[in-house]
Amino acid sequence: MTATGDQHGGNAFLRNILRIMAGKVKWVTDIEKSVLINNFEKRGWIQVAENEDWNFYWMSVQTIRNVFSVETGYRLSDDQIVNHFPNHYELTRKDLMVKNIKRYRKELEKEGSPLAEKDENGKYIYLDFVPVTFMLPADYNLFVEEFRKNPSSTWIMKPCGKAQGKGIFLINKLSQIKKWSRDSKTSSFVSQSSKEAYVISLYINNPLLIGGKKFDLRLYKLGFCRFCTVKYTPSTSELDNMFVHLTNVAIQKHGDDYNHIHGGKWTVSNLRLYLESTRGKEVTNKLFDEIHWIIVQSLKAVAPVMNNDKHCFECYGYDIIIDDKLKPWLIECIPTIGLQNASNPLRHWLENWHWLHEV
Ligand SMILES: Nc1ncnc2c1ncn2[C@@H]1O[C@H](COP(=O)(O)OP(=O)(O)O)[C@@H](O)[C@H]1O
Ligand SMILES: [Mg+2]
Repeated sequence: MTATGDQHGGNAFLRNILRIMAGKVKWVTDIEKSVLINNFEKRGWIQVAENEDWNFYWMSVQTIRNVFSVETGYRLSDDQIVNHFPNHYELTRKDLMVKNIKRYRKELEKEGSPLAEKDENGKYIYLDFVPVTFMLPADYNLFVEEFRKNPSSTWIMKPCGKAQGKGIFLINKLSQIKKWSRDSKTSSFVSQSSKEAYVISLYINNPLLIGGKKFDLRLYKLGFCRFCTVKYTPSTSELDNMFVHLTNVAIQKHGDDYNHIHGGKWTVSNLRLYLESTRGKEVTNKLFDEIHWIIVQSLKAVAPVMNNDKHCFECYGYDIIIDDKLKPWLIECIPTIGLQNASNPLRHWLENWHWLHEV
């Protein structure tokens, strides 16, 4: 899940890393998060201001967008490292992720790659790991065509530019999309600029349940399971109840039954033990192998479009839903550690600093 710009590492880059290891790093951050600051201080690194000479800038995604965008043409010097790729959004924006994966599959198919093999229903055997997804409003007609094939299925609408479950809703009738489209046209909040792009994805309505509740995996180098606070039901009468359907902590923490001690979370090793004892070791291993496969394939899908900049790294987070047949589905990727509710994995990751050794 950790990607660096240059797999082979140029000399200057290695020199830089050696200096980092020697503890002479001048660092700056625009994120007031003690887990970062304590970690850098413990290494004996020196904090400087943004306008001074720095080697390592731990920045928010807003900053990378504003300062280091392709348009501004800002060049990092040889002894500078930042914690994002300027165009990480190729993987971390909901619409672009799907677009890149679709393109990757088509390319493999054209090359006649065995990876792009399909089954008798025309589904990719190895590359069918994102729920069927369309961009709205652009792909509206394609969506309608797909919807009509299975008019009883549920779909989930997600704004491309938002996070933490904001703006998400479920639909099971075409009239709801028509209404949404009308409302967004007339809403005074929605100007031309934010004729807001959405993705609409087939809703995985048979998630694996534990204790009757839906959960998903948020994977970094380590990861955890995030549980819903209300028992799951695919019943259409509960389509509006986000405590049933969305696993985001930002949503669940407002639920009456949210557990403030463990935050509705399990470690991945707990999940593993649970699955080994309830389903068996073999299928559990297969599931985790498939999750690994998804991560690798998603990175391969964006490799041709990512800035190949050796001064950048990214520790992507992956949201994965497991269905009741133990098939994992890629829901979304997030850029280097969303800092909300992620202190523990962040702390662990920083302390181990794996990416440094991997270069
Ligand atoms: N296709 C889907 N099927 C089932 N559940 C989904 C699907 N897409 C999203 N979800 C649920 O909604 C949550 C939020 O969706 P996500 O795409 O991660 O958006 P956000 O950026 O707001 O977190 C997910 O963590 C998951 O629980
Ligand atoms: Mg998410």
